[in-house]
Amino acid sequence: MANTLPPTYDRNGRHPLSPEVDHDETARFNFLTNLNVHLGQRVSPGNRSAFEKRVRPKFKKETGKELETSQQVRDAMRTDPFYQCWAALRRNTMEQRQQAGRHVILRQLDDLVGEAKRYNDGKKTLEIDKNAEVPRYLAAVDNHCMPGSYYSEVVPDDILAGANYEAGVFVTTAGSMSSKGDGGGRSIVNFVKQKFPDFAPKRILDLGAGIGVNTLPLAAAFPDAEVVAVDAGAPMVRWGHARAQALGYDNVRFIHADGDALDLDPNSFDWVQTTMFWHETSTAAIYSMTKKVHDLMAPGGLFLNVEQPNFTPDTPLYDRFTRDWDSWYNNEPFWSKLHTMDVFEVMAKAGFDADKMFDGGTEADIERGQFQPWSSTVSRHKAESKDSGDAKHNAYKGERWYLFGGWK
Ligand SMILES: C[S@@+](CC[C@H](N)C(=O)[O-])C[C@H]1O[C@@H](n2cnc3c(N)ncnc32)[C@H](O)[C@@H]1O
Repeated sequence: MANTLPPTYDRNGRHPLSPEVDHDETARFNFLTNLNVHLGQRVSPGNRSAFEKRVRPKFKKETGKELETSQQVRDAMRTDPFYQCWAALRRNTMEQRQQAGRHVILRQLDDLVGEAKRYNDGKKTLEIDKNAEVPRYLAAVDNHCMPGSYYSEVVPDDILAGANYEAGVFVTTAGSMSSKGDGGGRSIVNFVKQKFPDFAPKRILDLGAGIGVNTLPLAAAFPDAEVVAVDAGAPMVRWGHARAQALGYDNVRFIHADGDALDLDPNSFDWVQTTMFWHETSTAAIYSMTKKVHDLMAPGGLFLNVEQPNFTPDTPLYDRFTRDWDSWYNNEPFWSKLHTMDVFEVMAKAGFDADKMFDGGTEADIERGQFQPWSSTVSRHKAESKDSGDAKHNAYKGERWYLFGGWK
């Protein structure tokens, strides 16, 4: 029988820059990870029954109509005490995860800033633009309850947002992204190697790369390529560069820039990757940056994106509501637009040919053997959507990530 408990935080991979995580901090991370899983596996099924047994019949009785949209379900569910309890706890796990991560980093911030500087200073592979503007939509919200989001700086040469991101990704994903948190990147490499075995990119751009946790598997898979990781958050870029150096990667250049204002050679990249990026950008920015990407790509180049999949016409109403939840209550205001937006139309407007576009899924690469079998079977979203009838397009079902893209 599969283990029903997540791995423990101390099984997480470490590198020379990793912060010290003491006994109580480890216990806090473990508690939050398990609470996340418990809410997803054990408690959230009660929401479905609240919906079917109480909320939907009540709405019908009071209005004489059926619920039709996920927003209507949200408004109706808001009055149900069971759901209220789950939603408050769910939101709280994210807030606590941020505070727990920040606690670990803040108490040793001076040391970590100093260590990162040691890896960063004088390196041509790191570009920080003191005048770079934070995109307006990014500055508007503390993304997924992360105080100060990706870009705020509390000390000179700040790395807090980046180090906090890395420290807590285990909790947020309940250990399902492997011991280095790079399951996304390794899944992408598997997809590319299987689907396009002759593809040999010489220049790779990862847009919205964050700390590059999912960039490094690309650099490892194509060691002769020049890899460029771009992000709008200076603390993300500083930490990402230092981390990459500490892990021995010197073929990855980190650039701090708004993707919309990126000043790189046109027609020069054989592969542009985005991973869980578009759901953190505005609708206008998806259009403008996809156009930018098209301009930067070399003829014959690959554009590949890992994202939230669209709803399909047969996505059940309740599943629409659960999949939209993060937009409303997890400070992910642009999350749900990916459920309805036509990404093929976005690519077409940017200049991609319809007959060179594709989508698909890839198995999650969870680094079998590192964690117990549990980690391949559970994630919060997967647990919440496991009853879904939307097997084909639910990227979390059957351990699959959703990808879309096109060739130039
Ligand atoms: C959810 S994170 C994903 C990071 C990374 N791709 C990964 O897989 O871990 C989204 C990242 O997009 C960055 N971002 C958002 N808008 C951006 C923009 N206009 N230009 C560059 N980076 C941006 C944020 O700073 C953040 O680090």
